[in-house]
Amino acid sequence: MADPVVASHLSLVLKALPTISSPSQSLLQQHSKPMASSLNSAASLRLFASSSSSSSSAAARLSLRSTSLSFSSSLKSLAFSPLSRHKRGSAVSALSTGGFSSVAGPKCAASDPDQLKSAREDIKELLKSKFCHPILVRLGWHDAGTYNKNIEEWPRRGGANGSLRFEVELKHAANAGLVNALNLIQHIKDKYSGVTYADLFQLASATAIEEAGGPKIPMKYGRVDVSGPNECPEEGRLPAAGPPSPADHLREVFYRMGLNDKEIVALSGAHTLGRSRPERSGWGKPETKYTKDGPGAPGGQSWTVQWLKFDNSYFKDIKAKRDEDLLVLPTDAVLFEDPSFKVYAEKYAEDQETFFKDYAEAHAKLSNLGAKFNPPEGIVLDYGPR
Ligand code: HEM
Repeated sequence: MADPVVASHLSLVLKALPTISSPSQSLLQQHSKPMASSLNSAASLRLFASSSSSSSSAAARLSLRSTSLSFSSSLKSLAFSPLSRHKRGSAVSALSTGGFSSVAGPKCAASDPDQLKSAREDIKELLKSKFCHPILVRLGWHDAGTYNKNIEEWPRRGGANGSLRFEVELKHAANAGLVNALNLIQHIKDKYSGVTYADLFQLASATAIEEAGGPKIPMKYGRVDVSGPNECPEEGRLPAAGPPSPADHLREVFYRMGLNDKEIVALSGAHTLGRSRPERSGWGKPETKYTKDGPGAPGGQSWTVQWLKFDNSYFKDIKAKRDEDLLVLPTDAVLFEDPSFKVYAEKYAEDQETFFKDYAEAHAKLSNLGAKFNPPEGIVLDYGPR
C-alpha cells in the first residue's frame, strides 16, 4: 500500500511535470544546433564512433536532464531506491517546499554509497575497453579547477559541482573535446540516479589514476550538483598553456584555487597520462610514433612514451627534453625553470614514491574544491588498497 503522504506529493509532482518539461525542451532545441557544429571535428567523430553510448548531442541531452531529471530522480528515489524507506521523510519535505533538486533534504546524501561503488566498477570496465583514462582525469580537473577561493557563495565560487555537464561551460575554449568524456560516462550516470554528476566526474578521474597504476587517492563523495546552466562559472578560470609569463600565470590561477607551489607541480604530473591534440587545444603534433596507433583514438602528442601508465616519467621527460615526439608545454617547461617549482620537479623526477604521495594529496584536495557535500563530512568508499 502506498504511503498516502508520499502518494499525494507524487501526484502534485506529476501534475507539475508538463509545465517543467516544456522549458527543458526549448533548452534542448536552443542548444542542440551549436553543439552539433562544435562536434564536427574529425577527433570528435572518431571518439563518438568508439563511444559506447548512443550519442547524439551529449550536452543537449544533459541540459534536458538537468532540469527535468531532478524530478524523475526524486520520483525514482521515492518509489524505487533501496534507500527510499529511510530517505522518505526528507525527500517529501524537499518536494513540499518546492525544492526540486535531486538532493532531497539535509538528512539525505547527495550520492548513494552502494551506487558509487557499483559506478566505480563500471568505470573500471569502461577504462579496460576504451583506454580513456586521460580524458576522464581532465574532466574531473576541469570541473573542479574553476574554483575561486575569494568567492564564498556556492555555486558562484565554482569548483567540483557538476557544472561542466552544461553546454555553456563545455563550449569554453579550455574544455574543447571534453564532450567526448561526457559521452563515455553518460550511460553510467543513466544507470545510477543516486550518483551526482559532480561525484561521477571525480570518481571517474580518481579511478582512472588508480587503474593507470597511480596512487590510491583519499577521496570522499557526496558532492551536490548545480541545477542549471545559469550556475556555470564564467569562461577564463582555467590555466592557459602558453601565457607570456608561465610561472606568474600558474601562480595566479592555482593560488586563486587555494593551491600552492608544491601542489601545482604535483598536479602537473597528471600529464604523465594522455595527449594534446592540435584540433582541440591548438597544442601538440597531429600524431607521433607513440600515438599513431592508439590505443583508443589514434593521434595527438603525448608528454610521455607510455601515456596510459601513471608514473613519474613526466618529470624525467620534461627535464630531459630530448625526444621531439614528446610534448613540453611552456607551463610544463617552467616547472624546471622557476626556482620554487624546480625543487619539487627535481624531487619528483628522482623519487616516484614522493611524487605519488604528494600527487594523491593534491588530487584529493583539487577534487574537493568548491564542492558542497551532503552529508557535510562526505562519504568515504571502502574498496580496499586500490
Ligand atoms: C598546469 C596547468 C595546465 C595546463 C596549462 C594544461 C594544459 C593542457 C592542455 C593544453 C592539454 C591538451 C588538451 C587537448 O588538446 O586535448 C591538456 C591535457 C591534459 N591535462 Fe592538462 N593542463 C594543466 C594542468 C593539468 C592538471 C592539474 C591536470 C590534472 C590533475 C591535467 C590533466 C590533463 C590530462 C590527463 C590531459 C590529457 C587529456 C587527454 O589525453 O585527452 N592538466 N592539458
